[in-house]
Amino acid sequence: MQTTTRKRILQVIVLLAAVFILLQFIRPEVPHPPVTGDLQAPPEVKSILQRACYDCHSNQTQLRWYDRVAPAYWRVAQHIKDGRKGLNFSEWQSLSPADQKGKLFESFNQVQAGAMPLKDYAFVHRDAMLSENDIAVLKNYVAGMVSIKPADTALINTADKQYNKWKTAAAANSKVQPTPNGIDYLPDYKNWQVVSTTHRFDNSTMRVIYGNDVAIKAIQENHINPWPNGTIFAKVAWDQLQDADGNVRTGAFKQVEYMIKDDKKYADTKGWGWARWKTPELKPYGKDKMFTMECINCHRPVKDNDFVFTMPVKF
Ligand code: HEC
Ligand code: HEC
Repeated sequence: MQTTTRKRILQVIVLLAAVFILLQFIRPEVPHPPVTGDLQAPPEVKSILQRACYDCHSNQTQLRWYDRVAPAYWRVAQHIKDGRKGLNFSEWQSLSPADQKGKLFESFNQVQAGAMPLKDYAFVHRDAMLSENDIAVLKNYVAGMVSIKPADTALINTADKQYNKWKTAAAANSKVQPTPNGIDYLPDYKNWQVVSTTHRFDNSTMRVIYGNDVAIKAIQENHINPWPNGTIFAKVAWDQLQDADGNVRTGAFKQVEYMIKDDKKYADTKGWGWARWKTPELKPYGKDKMFTMECINCHRPVKDNDFVFTMPVKF
C-alpha cells in the first residue's frame, strides 16, 4: 500500500518535471535591435537608469538565468515589449528635446510614486531597487533641466485677468461640448477640496488636484483602494510664472481633466470615466473615444492603486 502511494507521488513529480521542461521550449522572442541613439546624461544619473530601468526600457536588456526560466520568462518578455514601447533609452535621440524632457519627468514621477521599476522585478533584482539618494539624484537632474525666467509685468497682468475670469466664470458653462466618450463638463470642481498640488519642472506647469465630496469622505474613512463609485478627481494645469521677487504664481490656463469613478458605467475603461478640456475655451480633448487609451496607459503603472497617482494626505 505504502509503496504504491510512494510510486504515485514519484509519478506525479516526474510528470511535473516533464511539463516544466516542455514549458521551456515555449519561448517568446526578446529581440535585440541596435542602439540607435543612447541617452546622454551625467554618469551618476545614467548608472541609476541603467541599473534599474534598462532591462525593460532599452535595447540593452541583460537577462539573468533566472529571468529565462519559463513561465516567469513569458512575463519578463512581455514587460520588455511593453516597456520599450513607451520609453526606450536606446532610441532616445529620435525624440525632440521637449519629448526627452517630458519622458525624463515622467520617469522621475513613476519612480517617486514607487511604480517603477516594477515591484516584482525589483524584488528579484535587488540591485535595481532605488534608494532615497538615487531618487534625489534623478530629481536634481530633471529639475536642473529647466530654466525659469522671471515673467514680465504684462504677462503677469494678463495671467491675473485670466485667473480671475476662471475663478468667477458662471457655474453653468453650457456651451462647453462633451468629450468624445460622452462626458459632460463639470464646472463645479473649483469649489471642491484641494487634494494635492504638483509642479512639473520639465514644461513649468503647476497642477492642482481637486476631489469631490465622495473623494474627501473616502480619504477620511481610508477607503481609497478601490475608490468608491461617485469619486471624482479634477486636475487643472496652469503655466507656472515667477515674478521678479521670485514668487510663484499661475500663468495661462492649460487644461482641466477628470477621472470619474463608476465601475459599471466605465467598466471598459478600468472603472473610470476619463475626460479632458483644453485651453481657456475648454475644447474637448480627443479625436474619438480611443483617446482614453492614452490616459490609461500612462496611469497603468499605478493600477494597483486603482489607477490613481495622488496619495492624499489625511486631513
Ligand atoms: C521589469 C520591467 C521594467 C523595469 C525594470 C522598469 N519598467 Fe518602466 N515600464 C514597464 C512596463 C511593462 C511599462 C508599461 C506600463 C505597464 O504595463 O505598467 C512601463 C512604463 C513606464 C513608463 C511610462 C511610459 C509611457 O509613456 O508609456 C515610464 C515613464 C517608465 N516605465 C519608467 C521607468 C523607469 C524610470 C524605470 C527605472 C527606474 C523603469 N521604468 C523600470 C516595465 C519596466
Ligand atoms: C504622460 C502620462 C499621463 C497621461 C498621458 C495622463 N496622465 Fe493623468 N496623471 C499623470 C500623473 C503623473 C499624475 C499625478 C499628478 C501629477 O503629477 O500631475 C496624473 C494625475 C491625474 C489626475 C488626478 C488623479 C491622480 O491620478 O492623481 C487626473 C484626474 C488625471 N490624471 C486625468 C487624466 C486624463 C483624463 C488623461 C487622458 C486624457 C490623463 N490623465 C493622461 C500622468 C498622465
